[in-house]
Amino acid sequence: MDINWDELRAAASNAMSKAYAPYSNFPVGVAGLVDDGRIVTGCNVENASYGVALCAECGLISNLISTGGGKLVAVACVDRHGNALMPCGRCRQLLWEHGGPSCLLDSVSGIKSMTEVLPDAFGAHDLTDRL
Ligand code: THU
Repeated sequence: MDINWDELRAAASNAMSKAYAPYSNFPVGVAGLVDDGRIVTGCNVENASYGVALCAECGLISNLISTGGGKLVAVACVDRHGNALMPCGRCRQLLWEHGGPSCLLDSVSGIKSMTEVLPDAFGAHDLTDRL
Protein backbone atom coordinates (compact mmCIF):
# COMPACT_ATOMS: atom_id res chain seq x y z
CA MET A 1 0.00 0.00 0.00
CA ASP A 2 1.30 3.42 -0.96
CA ILE A 3 1.90 5.68 2.04
CA ASN A 4 1.74 9.42 1.52
CA TRP A 5 3.71 10.52 4.58
CA ASP A 6 3.30 14.22 3.83
CA GLU A 7 -0.47 13.84 3.73
CA LEU A 8 -0.38 11.91 7.01
CA ARG A 9 1.82 14.53 8.70
CA ALA A 10 -0.48 17.31 7.48
CA ALA A 11 -3.53 15.47 8.87
CA ALA A 12 -1.70 15.03 12.18
CA SER A 13 -0.80 18.75 12.29
CA ASN A 14 -4.40 19.70 11.56
CA ALA A 15 -5.59 17.47 14.42
CA MET A 16 -2.90 18.99 16.67
CA SER A 17 -4.36 22.45 16.01
CA LYS A 18 -7.62 21.22 17.61
CA ALA A 19 -5.98 19.85 20.77
CA TYR A 20 -7.38 20.76 24.17
CA ALA A 21 -4.22 21.09 26.24
CA PRO A 22 -4.68 24.07 28.59
CA TYR A 23 -2.74 22.42 31.42
CA SER A 24 0.40 21.16 29.73
CA ASN A 25 0.25 23.62 26.83
CA PHE A 26 1.64 20.71 24.82
CA PRO A 27 -0.69 20.02 21.90
CA VAL A 28 -0.30 16.71 20.12
CA GLY A 29 -1.86 15.45 16.90
CA VAL A 30 -1.78 12.04 15.32
CA ALA A 31 -2.99 10.57 12.04
CA GLY A 32 -3.19 7.00 10.89
CA LEU A 33 -3.63 5.44 7.47
CA VAL A 34 -6.08 2.54 7.63
CA ASP A 35 -5.84 -0.55 5.40
CA ASP A 36 -8.97 0.55 3.50
CA GLY A 37 -7.33 3.87 2.60
CA ARG A 38 -9.06 6.20 4.99
CA ILE A 39 -7.19 8.51 7.36
CA VAL A 40 -8.18 8.74 11.01
CA THR A 41 -6.92 11.37 13.43
CA GLY A 42 -6.80 12.34 17.07
CA CYS A 43 -5.61 15.10 19.40
CA ASN A 44 -4.92 15.18 23.10
CA VAL A 45 -7.77 16.19 25.39
CA GLU A 46 -6.75 17.19 28.89
CA ASN A 47 -8.79 17.55 32.07
CA ALA A 48 -8.68 19.58 35.28
CA SER A 49 -8.17 16.20 36.91
CA TYR A 50 -4.76 15.89 35.26
CA GLY A 51 -4.48 12.12 35.44
CA VAL A 52 -7.48 11.49 33.23
CA ALA A 53 -6.04 13.35 30.23
CA LEU A 54 -6.50 11.53 26.95
CA CYS A 55 -3.49 11.23 24.71
CA ALA A 56 -3.95 12.03 21.03
CA GLU A 57 -3.60 8.32 20.23
CA CYS A 58 -6.66 7.53 22.36
CA GLY A 59 -8.70 9.81 20.11
CA LEU A 60 -7.14 8.21 17.04
CA ILE A 61 -8.14 4.71 18.12
CA SER A 62 -11.63 5.85 19.06
CA ASN A 63 -11.96 7.47 15.63
CA LEU A 64 -10.65 4.29 13.98
CA ILE A 65 -13.18 2.06 15.71
CA SER A 66 -16.15 4.41 15.50
CA THR A 67 -15.70 4.90 11.76
CA GLY A 68 -15.61 1.22 10.90
CA GLY A 69 -12.43 -0.26 12.36
CA GLY A 70 -9.68 -1.77 10.25
CA LYS A 71 -5.96 -2.07 10.65
CA LEU A 72 -3.54 0.83 10.96
CA VAL A 73 -0.88 0.70 8.24
CA ALA A 74 1.05 3.88 9.06
CA VAL A 75 0.97 6.49 11.81
CA ALA A 76 2.38 10.01 12.17
CA CYS A 77 2.36 11.80 15.52
CA VAL A 78 3.39 15.46 15.74
CA ASP A 79 4.14 18.20 18.26
CA ARG A 80 3.11 21.87 18.02
CA HIS A 81 5.77 22.48 15.36
CA GLY A 82 4.59 19.62 13.19
CA ASN A 83 7.72 17.66 14.08
CA ALA A 84 7.62 13.92 14.64
CA LEU A 85 6.84 13.00 18.24
CA MET A 86 7.27 9.54 19.73
CA PRO A 87 4.04 8.08 21.13
CA CYS A 88 4.29 7.43 24.87
CA GLY A 89 4.64 3.85 26.09
CA ARG A 90 0.94 3.33 26.74
CA CYS A 91 0.07 4.66 23.31
CA ARG A 92 2.55 2.35 21.61
CA GLN A 93 0.52 -0.47 23.13
CA LEU A 94 -2.67 1.05 21.69
CA LEU A 95 -1.05 1.28 18.26
CA TRP A 96 0.22 -2.30 18.56
CA GLU A 97 -3.30 -3.60 19.18
CA HIS A 98 -4.67 -1.96 16.03
CA GLY A 99 -1.64 -1.89 13.79
CA GLY A 100 0.32 -4.98 14.68
CA PRO A 101 4.03 -5.53 14.11
CA SER A 102 4.12 -4.26 10.53
CA CYS A 103 2.47 -0.89 11.15
CA LEU A 104 4.93 1.89 10.32
CA LEU A 105 5.62 4.93 12.49
CA ASP A 106 7.10 8.26 11.45
CA SER A 107 9.58 8.29 14.33
CA VAL A 108 12.08 10.94 15.41
CA SER A 109 14.76 8.78 13.80
CA GLY A 110 13.02 7.89 10.56
CA ILE A 111 10.30 5.45 9.52
CA LYS A 112 10.23 2.47 11.86
CA SER A 113 8.02 -0.56 12.29
CA MET A 114 6.09 -1.16 15.48
CA THR A 115 8.38 -4.08 16.29
CA GLU A 116 11.23 -1.59 16.46
CA VAL A 117 9.46 0.85 18.75
CA LEU A 118 7.79 -1.81 20.91
CA PRO A 119 10.04 -4.87 20.83
CA ASP A 120 8.79 -8.17 22.26
CA ALA A 121 5.40 -6.59 22.71
CA PHE A 122 2.71 -8.09 24.86
CA GLY A 123 -0.38 -8.67 22.75
CA ALA A 124 -3.54 -10.65 22.12
CA HIS A 125 -1.47 -13.72 21.15
CA ASP A 126 -0.16 -13.97 24.71
CA LEU A 127 -3.69 -14.38 26.00
CA THR A 128 -4.21 -17.47 23.86
CA ASP A 129 -0.68 -18.93 23.66
CA ARG A 130 -0.21 -19.05 27.41
CA LEU A 131 -3.37 -20.83 28.50
N1 THU B 1 0.64 13.21 24.82
C1 THU B 1 -0.03 12.62 23.79
O1 THU B 1 -1.12 13.07 23.42
N2 THU B 1 0.52 11.54 23.19
C2 THU B 1 1.74 11.02 23.50
O2 THU B 1 2.10 9.96 22.99
C3 THU B 1 2.62 11.74 24.44
C4 THU B 1 1.92 12.71 25.33
C5 THU B 1 0.02 14.34 25.49
C6 THU B 1 -0.53 14.02 26.85
C7 THU B 1 -0.56 15.39 27.51
O3 THU B 1 -1.79 16.01 27.16
C8 THU B 1 0.58 16.14 26.84
O4 THU B 1 0.97 15.37 25.71
C9 THU B 1 1.80 16.34 27.73
O5 THU B 1 2.24 15.12 28.26
